[in-house]
Amino acid sequence: IATLLPVTRGAEHQVTVGGPGILQYNPQFVTADPGDVVVFTFKQKNHTTTQSSFDSPCVQAPGGFDSGFIPVADNNTDGPFPVAQFTVEDTNPVWVYCKQANHCQQGMVFAINPGDKFDAFQSAAKGLAASTASASASTVASSTTAPPPSGTATGVVTVTATVTVSGTQAVTTTYASYPGSAAPTSASSSDHRVMVGAGGLLTFNPSNITAQVGDTITFVFAAKNHTATQSNFANPCTSLTQSSTSGQVGFDSGFMPVPNGTVNFPTYTIQVNDTAPIWAFCRQTTPVSHCAQGMVFAANAVESGANTFEAFEAKAKASVSSSGNSTSSALSLRTSSYAG
Ligand SMILES: *[C@@H]1O[C@H](CO)[C@@H](O)[C@H](O)[C@H]1NC(C)=O
Ligand SMILES: *[C@@H]1O[C@H](CO)[C@@H](O)[C@H](O)[C@H]1NC(C)=O
Ligand SMILES: *[C@@H]1O[C@H](CO)[C@@H](O)[C@H](O)[C@H]1NC(C)=O
Ligand SMILES: *[C@@H]1O[C@H](CO)[C@@H](O)[C@H](O)[C@H]1NC(C)=O
Ligand SMILES: *[C@@H]1O[C@H](CO)[C@@H](O)[C@H](O)[C@H]1NC(C)=O
Ligand SMILES: *[C@@H]1O[C@H](CO)[C@@H](O)[C@H](O)[C@H]1NC(C)=O
Ligand SMILES: *[C@@H]1O[C@H](CO)[C@@H](O)[C@H](O)[C@H]1NC(C)=O
Repeated sequence: IATLLPVTRGAEHQVTVGGPGILQYNPQFVTADPGDVVVFTFKQKNHTTTQSSFDSPCVQAPGGFDSGFIPVADNNTDGPFPVAQFTVEDTNPVWVYCKQANHCQQGMVFAINPGDKFDAFQSAAKGLAASTASASASTVASSTTAPPPSGTATGVVTVTATVTVSGTQAVTTTYASYPGSAAPTSASSSDHRVMVGAGGLLTFNPSNITAQVGDTITFVFAAKNHTATQSNFANPCTSLTQSSTSGQVGFDSGFMPVPNGTVNFPTYTIQVNDTAPIWAFCRQTTPVSHCAQGMVFAANAVESGANTFEAFEAKAKASVSSSGNSTSSALSLRTSSYAG
């Protein structure tokens, strides 16, 4: 049977995590085939989806997956809600709990393919019916001792978190969380070099990249007089510092004039601190708005959602041209930020 699995696309099982006053996964368990995907949608308030074991329902299993804490504000009634998904590897039971405070002890547990043992698992989580639980535990021991293949990324969890970037905008970020790591990691950080204005073009090259937390992005200013200035998806051609209603300060290289014949191009390096998309533009407006010409950049844009790099670029071109010209907004930047 196993050899047939890759041919079929798995079904999706939707599970709601929490909600106003609800300490529960809904449904509390699913029966799934290998290759199926279990999609956890996080509602209020601040829960996790964490793998445990039948014997220790409220303790993270060594090497088990963990979504990490995913807070959802009380007043977020309409979403978007963060999502984590788990791809079912085999038919062995997968035991899950919420590691927030004492949620597990209040019965906030979940299982994939529990057979008839879900009640015993949940009772054990609550510290009830120890004798029943241990009886069940012994019967289950044989199946749980079949270990996941060591060294394989069994149970990769894809987490989609909603990050509020400014008062008005929420963006979604997706990252892979490997078993045992609560946050995305990379073995070693790397530097991504982005050429700015190379060949006299009004471009960042590459224009869109994927970077890990801990990586750096170095903008190399290759010609003319450009900037690398952080904006946000909603306002591609306005510095984040200016558009933010919550006092966020975005990065800004300042203008980087590059005289003809320059050999050592000036650079500006930023640190990737999280998995949220990073949006940037060139705020040069003389003689034309570079941003309106599409001179924009993104790191970690989510291509599966609405906020793609392409959409950002289109917005940059449209937002500026529809408002006549961008001179006023670009020039009203604080003069202190002009210091290169
Ligand atoms: C979510 O819960 C964790 C663990 O209790 C806590 O560290 C974190 O600050 C909480 N987040 C929010 C936004 O309440
Ligand atoms: C939710 O509440 C927070 C803090 O109280 C506030 O900043 C935010 O604007 C509210 N969001 C909505 C959609 O009402
Ligand atoms: C670079 O551009 C800025 C903004 O247009 C301008 O103020 C500055 O004088 C320019 N620098 C050079 C050396 O051309
Ligand atoms: C720099 O080079 C460009 C293209 O070769 C030329 O158009 C421009 O006049 C030069 N600028 C200066 C200041 O020499
Ligand atoms: C990362 O954090 C540093 C230090 O707080 C900050 O200067 C930098 O702008 C941040 N990077 C991004 C992309 O926000
Ligand atoms: C912006 O609009 C003003 C007035 O309509 C015009 O004089 C100026 O040339 C425009 N600038 C750009 C960069 O289009
Ligand atoms: C994103 O970057 C890749 C690699 O540089 C490029 O091939 C692609 O065209 C870019 N996407 C857009 C929408 O420009």
